[in-house]
Amino acid sequence: MDAPRSLWIESTPETSYPALADGLEVDIAVVGGGIAGITAAFLLQREGRSVAVVDSKRILHGATGYTTAKVTAGHSVSYSTLEGNFGREGARTYAEAQQGALELVARLVEELAIDCDFERKANYVYAESPDERATIEEEVEAALRAGLAAELVEETPLPYPVECAFRLPGQAQFHPRKYLLRLAEAVAGDGGRIFEQTRATGIEGSGPCRVVTDRGTLTARDVVVSSHLPFLDRGFFFAKAHPERSYAVACRISREQDPEGMYINLSPPTRSVRTAYDEGGLLLLLGGEGHKPGAEPDTHARYGALEEFGRRHWGASEFPYRWSTQDYSPLDGVPYVGRLTRRGDHVYVATGFKKWGMTNGTAAAMILGDLVLGRDNPWAGLFDSKRLTPRASAPRFVKENATVARHFVGDRLDRGEAAEVETVAPGEGRMLRVRGRKTAVYRDEGGRVHALSPVCTHMGCHVGWNPAERSWDCPCHGSRFGGDGTVIQGPATRDLARRDLGTGSGDGTR
Ligand SMILES: Cc1cc2nc3c(=O)[nH]c(=O)nc-3n(C[C@H](O)[C@H](O)[C@H](O)COP(=O)(O)OP(=O)(O)OC[C@H]3O[C@@H](n4cnc5c(N)ncnc54)[C@H](O)[C@@H]3O)c2cc1C
Ligand code: FES
Repeated sequence: MDAPRSLWIESTPETSYPALADGLEVDIAVVGGGIAGITAAFLLQREGRSVAVVDSKRILHGATGYTTAKVTAGHSVSYSTLEGNFGREGARTYAEAQQGALELVARLVEELAIDCDFERKANYVYAESPDERATIEEEVEAALRAGLAAELVEETPLPYPVECAFRLPGQAQFHPRKYLLRLAEAVAGDGGRIFEQTRATGIEGSGPCRVVTDRGTLTARDVVVSSHLPFLDRGFFFAKAHPERSYAVACRISREQDPEGMYINLSPPTRSVRTAYDEGGLLLLLGGEGHKPGAEPDTHARYGALEEFGRRHWGASEFPYRWSTQDYSPLDGVPYVGRLTRRGDHVYVATGFKKWGMTNGTAAAMILGDLVLGRDNPWAGLFDSKRLTPRASAPRFVKENATVARHFVGDRLDRGEAAEVETVAPGEGRMLRVRGRKTAVYRDEGGRVHALSPVCTHMGCHVGWNPAERSWDCPCHGSRFGGDGTVIQGPATRDLARRDLGTGSGDGTR
């Protein structure tokens, strides 16, 4: 099986910012170098503040390094739902935030002359059957009321027929790392600091705040937590934002096959379509196949379904890239952006971009930039991280947290497979019963066995094996761990506990 390779990561140079040196003091610390964090750092540095970004890995290797990177206000079907949850004014504010973010990206691309394949394209959300028509028609009406230049069209340039589509002209696509690496360079070039391989594990105090990391402490008046899902449990964002994992493949197509737009269908299985480039020429990106992390035993099949779609409609035969990642969705349709806990708090968060983080992450950075600087922001009220929307949030809260409870309790009842550790092949992870205890067992390519507790170090759900990524994924709030138990992605900040297999080695491996 091909190992996952993100087009965005493969086609850009790797960064090599240093790890944090203990004792630094700055005006603003940014925890997490994805699109939200890097954009916030750039905007705040440009306002003359001293800024330091810390990232647990290399920057832009989180969701932003594995996205599809459509930059659009056309978020599948959103505006009709937003009107229901927040009224027409709320839907209009959301549209303004998305368009504002898109225009900021366009302006920065021009101002800094960023070579990032930024192209204006129409965005389409299409229906495939007559019973979906009314939903698209309602969405076009709601998007028009929200101030967007929406159109209902009966045909698209796609090579297969559609029932009808919501078309939004003047949207964009780009190469997210080429764009954001340049913003990061501008931060560092202007006296800002970027630290990699530095995991934040806590924040103490408020104004000044002490960001505690595995490399020492960083002091700042304000802290922007842009770690995708906040790694801090206070604020309870883990119960309000829910992860979904999705997949993308890239196939080579000819100029004549260019579908000249960005597309997403209405009903599952999701099929998201856009073009991109690499040294070999034009590529078609196909995305979709979302599911709860840690709950899909055959993640390879998800790539297979997307490749089959490319073969069927574009005759594709060459698939040079495939990748997957996950994103968090809010309960009521609007991301959570603002203070972590209460008015006057100097810790800020941005999460729940619902797979539309190119605009939502940029808008979040614009909102947080204003809040940190004490300025009004016209979108801050709608996105308020502490808002209470019980009517809009309750159904999803109950459903998502019932799933968490099921994994918390149900997965404990499963005692693991009664098989010998010797039966685990190189590169394979299995949940085995070892000396009566359910144990997450992985054998690496060198033959070394890693025996781990399956209990996620965030809040105790049991992880599941993801064969395509070779990782242990937690279905509850999306933490991920390598085969050897090392944290890949939070909210967990600690590795899975090692188990001793009773060989006398004492370190749980052999
Ligand atoms: C398959 C897929 C396709 C998508 N396609 C689109 C699209 O077409 N258009 C669109 O708008 N959006 C899209 N999205 C959504 C978008 O990619 C995300 O919303 C966005 O990238 C999230 O950005 P972020 O900055 O919040 O998080 P990330 O990019 O994940 O950045 C968070 C960073 O924080 C770091 N970090 C985490 N914990 C810590 C810690 N404790 N200490 C220090 N650092 C830490 C991580 O290493 C990471 O670098 C897609 C999402 C998926 C899953
Ligand atoms: S991510 Fe919360 S329990 Fe695993």
